[in-house]
Amino acid sequence: MIEVKNINKTFGGRHITQNFSCTFEKGKTNLIIGESGSGKTVLLKCIVGLTEVDSGEVLYDGQNFLKFNAKEKQNLRKEIGMLFQGGALFDSKTVEENIMFPLAMFTDMTEKEQKERADFCLSKVNLSQAGDLYPSELSGGMKKRVAIARAIAPNPKYLFCDEPNSGLDPKTSILIDKLIKDITEEFQMTTIVITHDMNSVMEIGEKVVFICKNQKWWEGTNQTILDTDNKELQDFIYVSKFLKELKDKKTNA
Ligand SMILES: Nc1ncnc2c1ncn2[C@@H]1O[C@H](COP(=O)(O)OP(=O)(O)O)[C@@H](O)[C@H]1O
Ligand SMILES: [Mg+2]
Repeated sequence: MIEVKNINKTFGGRHITQNFSCTFEKGKTNLIIGESGSGKTVLLKCIVGLTEVDSGEVLYDGQNFLKFNAKEKQNLRKEIGMLFQGGALFDSKTVEENIMFPLAMFTDMTEKEQKERADFCLSKVNLSQAGDLYPSELSGGMKKRVAIARAIAPNPKYLFCDEPNSGLDPKTSILIDKLIKDITEEFQMTTIVITHDMNSVMEIGEKVVFICKNQKWWEGTNQTILDTDNKELQDFIYVSKFLKELKDKKTNA
């Protein structure tokens, strides 16, 4: 579980994240949604410690990460898997080598153990046959799956994905979403996914946090989100006029 308490972050006097508090539960895919530029990536970077906050607390299973010393931070980082926007694979390494990389960096595994773990993680993303391929030989969806396999290879307790569906077609996006949800449940990770894709929200949004005007504007689930009477959230959901009409039809039926 990750508890975020009253995080504030400004850049050059401009509030990007204002008094943000939220709890992200273990074994769940927690979504952060909001328009482009609303501060989603900044928030995630604050939670991971890649960006320093002005004030606030981030508790990883009860421990305030922001008060950790360098050694403690390093230990926590080993328990975090990250899938960042445009997060690239190493082109000169095979798929298997890409996945072995964090294991070589962060664990004491022998090369044989690293290979076994890499192959296990590849099987989890349905790419058992792809270990010897190079990234240039993969489709966009396959690359994403390799990146997920690499993120989960060190068996992280926490998984962060920033727009994992960007650049993917809707069908592949759904597969990636389901994969993230499945491995989150299977490995009981605390997962936070940033997205602006309503398909993802409806598919895997067990918990959804909407960011607007630099604040947490709404919090709920995919079961409740369509019933919201929050104006800004409605605007976000029904950017498509077609969807709005469909919704009105349903309401009036
Ligand atoms: N390092 C930085 N320095 C100054 N401004 C930044 C920095 N990083 C992000 N911002 C600003 O913060 C705002 C939110 O950015 P971001 O979190 O990337 O949005 P998004 O919701 O699209 O992920 C944007 O206006 C962006 O320009
Ligand atoms: Mg972003």
